[in-house]
Amino acid sequence: MDRLAVEGGAPLFGKVRVSGAKNAALPLMAASILADGPLDLTNVPSLGDLKTMARLLTLMGGAVRASFRGDEGAGPEECLIDMRGLSVPEARHELVKTMRASALVLGPLLARHGRAVVSLPGGCAIGVRPIDMHLKALKEMGADFDISGGDIIARAPAGGLRGAAVNFPTVTVTGTENVMMAAALARGETVISNAAREPEVVDTGRALCAMGARIEGLGTGEIAVHGVPSLSGARYAVMSDRIEAGTLMAAVALAGGKVTLQGAPLASMAAVRDKFGEAGLYMSYEGDDLYLESPGGRLEAVNLVTMPHPGFPTDMQAQFMAAMCLASGVSIVTETIFENRFMHVAELRRLGADITLEGRSAVVKGVRHLSGAPLTASDLRASAGLLLAALAARGRSVVSRVYHLDRGYDRLDRKLNLLGARITREKE
Ligand code: UD1
Repeated sequence: MDRLAVEGGAPLFGKVRVSGAKNAALPLMAASILADGPLDLTNVPSLGDLKTMARLLTLMGGAVRASFRGDEGAGPEECLIDMRGLSVPEARHELVKTMRASALVLGPLLARHGRAVVSLPGGCAIGVRPIDMHLKALKEMGADFDISGGDIIARAPAGGLRGAAVNFPTVTVTGTENVMMAAALARGETVISNAAREPEVVDTGRALCAMGARIEGLGTGEIAVHGVPSLSGARYAVMSDRIEAGTLMAAVALAGGKVTLQGAPLASMAAVRDKFGEAGLYMSYEGDDLYLESPGGRLEAVNLVTMPHPGFPTDMQAQFMAAMCLASGVSIVTETIFENRFMHVAELRRLGADITLEGRSAVVKGVRHLSGAPLTASDLRASAGLLLAALAARGRSVVSRVYHLDRGYDRLDRKLNLLGARITREKE
């Protein structure tokens, strides 16, 4: 297991390219199950969760060929997936427990193969995270489920899944993707109400359309999918990662400096840009380059409430809170998506942050200095928040259990070091 030792206090300067989006690449890899030919994905980031998804598809009998670039900026990584040889429509517990997004194979397997065995995801650090809404929607499309030995045993009806009116009681990102993928090959029309509008859902829908699917309403709360008899392979470039771009933005806010993010998905990160702008981070744009400059003095404290897109993403909450720890004034950060997504608070306090929890809100009183400490990462975005706070802290911090970070970021420590950070990867 690796840990990261950080010497705080170095400002960041230079240019760095934003990688492809994890949360778009995951459903796109699952969508390969639907295709009658190979799916060729480009701009695929090199990170743990995608390797897990590749392994899952391989264990099913698919052929996955990935070429991950060795060096920064050496061009997009490519992943060629051919699922025509799929013979084992199963996602077993060993993989599902390390990555909840494994549930994304359920809809495609039911639509294309009529059956699936997918281990029920357990709890995770940030909350209970059930998939009941995925199952209810697929049931409305005619699927039938049994639970046995911790697995969901799923079957489609004899003539295949059929279109249905699916109304999600709350917005679910992977739930919307699962149903959209299943509906692409179902008989008739599926209308998804209260659909997720996240850019990664739109990207998944666009890729499905490139494969021959008929989908309307992407990016709105109502998505209509007209089922087609088959989907072909395609070549598709995954969108850039708005959360990685936002994380690097938070890094500049904390560590200080002047950085250009190349290939930032500007249109999809308005809420994050607005909040950092309000706090005093300077930004300008040229094409899809985003230039960032920290203010001379401290950031201003601003309040934040996480919301489904186009609101402020929960996946940026920990990183933003880290930035607020050193801001001038008091910031109230409210988490509305997950019930337990404040695991980073106790660790930020170890650096000297002044944070109190009041139900779903964290009250962050900005302090003038943080000082280095040993830190333990608890989940993916919390690890990013801790790493960024360590960049701004005086002295040395050590962030352990960084496998959480490696699951979801494409060599974040390396990118930060290219910009001048002093992070060393060590064995625990
Ligand atoms: C996705 C993202 C994750 C992000 C989250 C919210 C991927 C791979 N992951 O996760 O990074 O933090 O969206 O933007 O894209 N819920 C239920 N029942 C369900 C489904 C969800 O109760 O069947 C609840 C969840 O526990 C949570 C809320 O609904 O409280 C929203 O979760 P959801 O949008 O489904 O998150 P994920 O798709 O798992």
